[in-house]
Amino acid sequence: MTVIVETRDLTRRYGGMVALNHLNLSIPQGAVYGFIGPNGAGKTTTMRILTTLLLPSDGEAYVAGHSVVRERAAVRRQVGFMPDFFGVYDNMKATEYLDFFAAAYAVPPARRPKLIADLLALVDLSHKQEAEVMSLSRGMKQRLSLARTMLHDPALLILDEPASGLDPRARVELRELLKELRNLGKTIMISSHILTELAEMCTHIGIIERGHLLASGEVAAIMRSLQTHRVFEVHLLPAEGAELETALLQAANLAQAQPHVLEVRPLPQANPPQLQIDFAGDDRAAGALLAHLIAGGVSVTHFAGQVSNLEEIFLRVTAGSAYGGTS
Ligand SMILES: Nc1ncnc2c1ncn2[C@@H]1O[C@H](COP(=O)(O)OP(=O)(O)OP(=O)(O)O)[C@@H](O)[C@H]1O
Ligand SMILES: [Mg+2]
Repeated sequence: MTVIVETRDLTRRYGGMVALNHLNLSIPQGAVYGFIGPNGAGKTTTMRILTTLLLPSDGEAYVAGHSVVRERAAVRRQVGFMPDFFGVYDNMKATEYLDFFAAAYAVPPARRPKLIADLLALVDLSHKQEAEVMSLSRGMKQRLSLARTMLHDPALLILDEPASGLDPRARVELRELLKELRNLGKTIMISSHILTELAEMCTHIGIIERGHLLASGEVAAIMRSLQTHRVFEVHLLPAEGAELETALLQAANLAQAQPHVLEVRPLPQANPPQLQIDFAGDDRAAGALLAHLIAGGVSVTHFAGQVSNLEEIFLRVTAGSAYGGTS
């Protein structure tokens, strides 16, 4: 696995205030890395350091193997940054805006028209190429800003809260766009304080709080490591001529005696009627539980663990440390 971003004890102070505290994170090439944390956690600070806009106070950070302190030009060639705020550009058309930045990135004039047309098409703004930048809607400005980050074809895109202020439809479009960028081979680091915003589009997540990295890794692995308690939902069919309620009670008795089962609730009134099992075992134990039910004569038609969502994980991870914690 190639690592494209790595920080080692990355620390940033503003006066006496520690905004980043010995941050050690790594992002594998090709990942969509969701960087999640509440306001003031240190997300923007980290991103500004990785894009060489800000120097660390201590520690190191590397982008594609280049030090953000000693090899700033090399880092800048690898990174495209979309800041959380879009600057003000009066009397500038979308194409002029991109041309201006392409020039800044030293893209040869002859190559610019096609590059700009391609990028506008990619972010679905071809129809607005002659529009004044300031007349674009917020979502369109975000997409234009995203096009700008790609002018020099960077390997890594760092997007600071790209979804904030977007309506649900624009969010879906952004998600689709990120998928496309990933297919183009880009690694993407994207911040948000809303976990569900990132849930479906990330391969990895890092959770940061008050300058500390609380968790980082593959989404599935983090979910698994935090998943000490799941609720399984079981639907079943009664034997011919038997009552469903009786069948639920029988299944409940079977389940209750099994290892890792904390509590069983037969819910005949639920829609559909079901059994809920609070379960503390791993996947293998869950398989054994299901096998036991079937061996006991229960006609199971549905057996599913409710997977906790990122929001729940976030609350669990930050509980204790977040408010009234140790830092
Ligand atoms: N230029 C600065 N001067 C002083 N303190 C700063 C400066 N920039 C950031 N900070 C402080 O550093 C901490 C981290 O800020 P940062 O902007 O990195 O957080 P964030 O995670 O991006 O938050 P948000 O979700 O609100 O964007 C905050 O406590 C903030 O007040
Ligand atoms: Mg920020």
